Amino acid sequence: MELSNLRSETEIAKQGSEFSSNLSQDHELPGVAPDRDFLDVALGDLPLLYRTPSRWARRVMEDPESLLNDHAHLEKKAAANALELLCRWPHGETPDYWVRALTSMAAEESDHLRLVTRFMMRHGYQLSRHHKNPYAGRLHVLVRRGAGRAELADRLYVAALIEARSCERFIQLYSIGQELNSNLKPVEQEIGRLYGSLLESEVGHYRAFLRLARELRPDDHELEWKDWLSRESQIVQEIPFYSGILSGTSDL
Ligand SMILES: [Fe+2]
Ligand SMILES: [Fe+2]
Repeated sequence: MELSNLRSETEIAKQGSEFSSNLSQDHELPGVAPDRDFLDVALGDLPLLYRTPSRWARRVMEDPESLLNDHAHLEKKAAANALELLCRWPHGETPDYWVRALTSMAAEESDHLRLVTRFMMRHGYQLSRHHKNPYAGRLHVLVRRGAGRAELADRLYVAALIEARSCERFIQLYSIGQELNSNLKPVEQEIGRLYGSLLESEVGHYRAFLRLARELRPDDHELEWKDWLSRESQIVQEIPFYSGILSGTSDL
């Protein structure tokens, strides 16, 4: 069956156009803070097999400059990755929904980068030249290179996992900023609000990548995604902690 004929094409196209219409204008924080219901639904929707311990959020908040610098680089890489995926369609004409979804994601991630770097500059934080991401590095090693559609599906699974794990961490960072008596400094509360404001968009990205992967390989999707979830849960527990969104918990 041609992918372009699949019924869900219109759903993805719709999601793509929603990405575009959700793009924030030139203000400091996009969207509105999520309410409790949205957080519960978003967290319940994440299929991650390992849940980050709640102490993780307080630990990363101890070094806000490193946390935001890491986050800025992740947004930059997310934007670049969406553009890179744009022309990886295996053969034939690239479907409109694919182009729409990925260009919208690239635009949103670039906008997130703008917001995070503005936040950093306001607080006198520096953007580093270099950035390491051991979590993504370990996932990318497992991509089946040279395997056509399977490789592309793997790249989408990796992108979906990065988005899903980021969402889980954003929820933690937003939630501790909301807790009464959390004893957070004003900048930390502001960071919590920043993550709350980005959450809805990132949940949309996670869902979109997963849906694109499902459309690409409908017969293999269920088993492959299960495998990826299991690998991800192992990797995040094996890599060390640092003040960053996708840090590991081996020594937390
Ligand atoms: Fe983002
Ligand atoms: Fe994203």
